[in-house]
Amino acid sequence: MKKNVVILTGAGMSAESGLKTFRDADGLWEGHDVMEVASPQGFENNPELVLDFYNQRRRQLLEVTPNKAHKALVTLEEHFKVTIITQNVDDLHERAGSSHVVHLHGELLKVRSTMGGQPIPWRSNLVLGDTCEKGYQLRPHIVWFGEEVPMMGRAMELTAMADFLLIIGTSMQVYPAAGLIDFVPKGTPIYFVDPKPSIKGNPLNKLYVIPEKATEGVPTVVADLIDKAP
Ligand code: APR
Repeated sequence: MKKNVVILTGAGMSAESGLKTFRDADGLWEGHDVMEVASPQGFENNPELVLDFYNQRRRQLLEVTPNKAHKALVTLEEHFKVTIITQNVDDLHERAGSSHVVHLHGELLKVRSTMGGQPIPWRSNLVLGDTCEKGYQLRPHIVWFGEEVPMMGRAMELTAMADFLLIIGTSMQVYPAAGLIDFVPKGTPIYFVDPKPSIKGNPLNKLYVIPEKATEGVPTVVADLIDKAP
């Protein structure tokens, strides 16, 4: 039976594809206060600005491609059962070819009704007046600050089954995602790949720290894990 590799990724994973991280520039996300563009209050105050912000992010996403680190993770699937739990709203893991991706914070290429319900694929601009079939405004399928994280339960279950945990390109500042590390079994090795790693974890877990960019550090860790595969 293949062992489980669980991988938690953050904005640093996609940085070298050309998507900016969140907390490098004074906490601004592409020039905006995150609460302005990533909270229910922000949407209520200025829905046009918020929709336009995600329209720009969506257009930008369609112009970038997966990097070497996304691709390296795909090769792990020959040897392990691999699950990626990502905080990223991009689809670069999927486009690289990863089979099991759980999006904790939603997906840029989906929208849903402001009244709830299932997400629908959406690649173009979303504007005021775009409604669901019941006539309610559509909104980005993004988990905003203060909102529930519906995939968290699934992510906790998956982390609790990890034989290896990789944490790539995340500042581990945003909860509940950052709390996933507490669900990893004692004794499961944890690998951190990040030029400025935020190292957390129980002393009963062996920690490996690779203070490098994802495109450099991830292929090294992947090769190391493949060597360890039964
Ligand atoms: N390779 C790997 N890591 C990198 C790289 C790179 N090339 N460049 C930057 N990093 C690291 C930074 O050192 C930092 O630790 O990526 C991390 C990015 O941290 P954040 O910007 O805080 O992003 P993230 O942890 O994904 O944020 C979590 O916060 O704003 C919310 O919902 C949003 O999902 C996001 C969540």
